[in-house]
Amino acid sequence: MRRALMVARARNGCIGRDNKLPWYLPNDLKYFKQVTFGKPVVMGRKTWESLKGPLPGRTNIVISRQPDYVAEGARVVESLDAALLLADQIAVIDGSEEVIVMGGAEIYRLALPQMERLYITEVHADVDGDAFFPELPAGQWLEQAREDFSAEGPNPYDYSFVVYRRR
Ligand SMILES: NC(=O)c1ccc[n+]([C@@H]2O[C@H](COP(=O)([O-])OP(=O)(O)OC[C@H]3O[C@@H](n4cnc5c(N)ncnc54)[C@H](OP(=O)(O)O)[C@@H]3O)[C@@H](O)[C@H]2O)c1
Repeated sequence: MRRALMVARARNGCIGRDNKLPWYLPNDLKYFKQVTFGKPVVMGRKTWESLKGPLPGRTNIVISRQPDYVAEGARVVESLDAALLLADQIAVIDGSEEVIVMGGAEIYRLALPQMERLYITEVHADVDGDAFFPELPAGQWLEQAREDFSAEGPNPYDYSFVVYRRR
């Protein structure tokens, strides 16, 4: 099972502010849905709480150290390893070839060494916030695809959809 991570990251690494996304980029939300639909998605408890509810069409897996944490419409597990194991099993049952780790900062940091593919939306701006994506270790990742877009309409920043695979 391929393990992938998906993130939208500003030029300065910012990915969040006050447990929310630090921007409204509707084209990125559409892209996120397109890539993740039908696949198990793994997230930290704080990212789960930032959502309005479970993401439809995807098994939502939430990581928390709280043994009695309840997330309605999601599966709760106690570690990243347990989340990835469960996600692999669900992907096999659902006929999906990929599982997606979808944040936030704590979970990205833990998961990065285990990922084979990264879907990164590069937001071409420095943005204020309190959650950051780690630097990609040099030499480990190969850019496989890139699409560049200019700010327009409701999308306030230039951005690129970039796919990396592990070398
Ligand atoms: N730009 C993007 O693409 C993107 C994507 C996702 C999220 N975000 C943003 O990222 C921010 C949230 O990130 P965050 O780092 O604050 O939180 P997070 O990674 O979503 O969740 C952190 C929580 O995960 C659980 N956790 C972390 N490490 C664990 C471990 N080793 N074992 C078991 N449980 C563990 C803990 O839950 P308990 O406290 O319950 O134990 C911890 O409080 C928000 O601003 C959100 O909007 C941005």
